[in-house]
Amino acid sequence: RTYRIATIPGDGVGREVVDAGRAVLDAAARVSGEDFALEWTELPWGSDHYGRTGRMMPADGLQTLEGFDAIYFGAVGWPGVPDHVSLWGLRLAICQGFDQWANVRPVVFHPGVTSPLRKADSADLDWVVVRENSEGEYAGLGGRNFSAREGGEVAVQSSLFTETGCERIMRFSFELARTRDRKKVASVTKSNAQQYGMVLWDDVFRRVAADYPDVETESVLVDAMAARFVLAPESLSVVVASNLNADILSDLGSALAGSLGIAASANLNPERRYPSMFEPVHGSAPDIAGRGVANPIGAVASGAMMLDHLGHPEVADAVRAAIDATTAAGVLTADLGGSATTEDVTSALVAALREP
Ligand code: NAI
Ligand code: MG
Repeated sequence: RTYRIATIPGDGVGREVVDAGRAVLDAAARVSGEDFALEWTELPWGSDHYGRTGRMMPADGLQTLEGFDAIYFGAVGWPGVPDHVSLWGLRLAICQGFDQWANVRPVVFHPGVTSPLRKADSADLDWVVVRENSEGEYAGLGGRNFSAREGGEVAVQSSLFTETGCERIMRFSFELARTRDRKKVASVTKSNAQQYGMVLWDDVFRRVAADYPDVETESVLVDAMAARFVLAPESLSVVVASNLNADILSDLGSALAGSLGIAASANLNPERRYPSMFEPVHGSAPDIAGRGVANPIGAVASGAMMLDHLGHPEVADAVRAAIDATTAAGVLTADLGGSATTEDVTSALVAALREP
């Protein structure tokens, strides 16, 4: 069958890594022996679109996207458009509009890539950050100009935690843990300091955990978890955290695995009522954009998660094996200490798929 994929390259290196990802995924589909193809429809949304129209995507953008099997996204954000405008106008609008409440961000260590952890056994490390992606600190609640007193403006930025929102992300995390070698979920909060929403989160975690006696659990404060990522990452399997905390921890995880450029993510609507969206963790990287040197691995690995979601896990595994073969062979972009271009890595990935 043919899957209809909406591509939104967005800004900066988004364009470069999405093109690379498409080439690799098409090659993977072709050589797989499985009878399917990907049909890409490109949507030219992002900061250029904002410059022309005053919007990051058209007003009926979500309706346009609704008919697709999945969304393949690059990055948004460009100097000249305030970052909160670009993020809320496109990426967050899609995540929240399509109730993509689970953001899955694996931390994967590839052979041939030097981790700043410098652990002899870092090849054996892998864990996954599950980010609550619909509420929490990014619920968008608050406002400016509350100022009633002398002394300047006051702004309020509130977090929203619902029992339903907490429960679904926790069940998702426990189910994910059951599919892994190490059946363990660590829940992350700052519930000692944030005494309402995050205490509700802790209460729901304990209640849901009772339904999964086969899965080991722990609750860890986010500051301690940041240290744990560095000092004892072998103790991690599934790490579930609120929107902001997981956003920060997943960047830390990808840096520990070698670079922000290799980290993948899936924004899932697990009920499949709406399309899910697959994107690298990194942003538009204006400092290196347009030079053909961006690392495409994060986008390619996100594409592998899209293949998992579309029901082709073996083809997804072939893509992941091609990534390992490419890094092991030393074909590395500058962020990983090498001198390969985006194009070099893409060609090496396609070649590795042809000759596994
Ligand atoms: P960034 O992720 O774009 O860049 C951080 C650092 O990582 C830079 O030094 C960059 O060169 C490097 N980097 C990122 N991706 C890379 C790749 N594929 N290969 C090699 N190196 C790579 O984050 P930054 O600089 O904080 O933000 C830049 C813009 O991106 C901002 O406008 C921000 O709002 C936006 N952004 C968008 C995201 C999204 O669309 N999901 C996520 C994060 C940031
Ligand atoms: Mg982030």
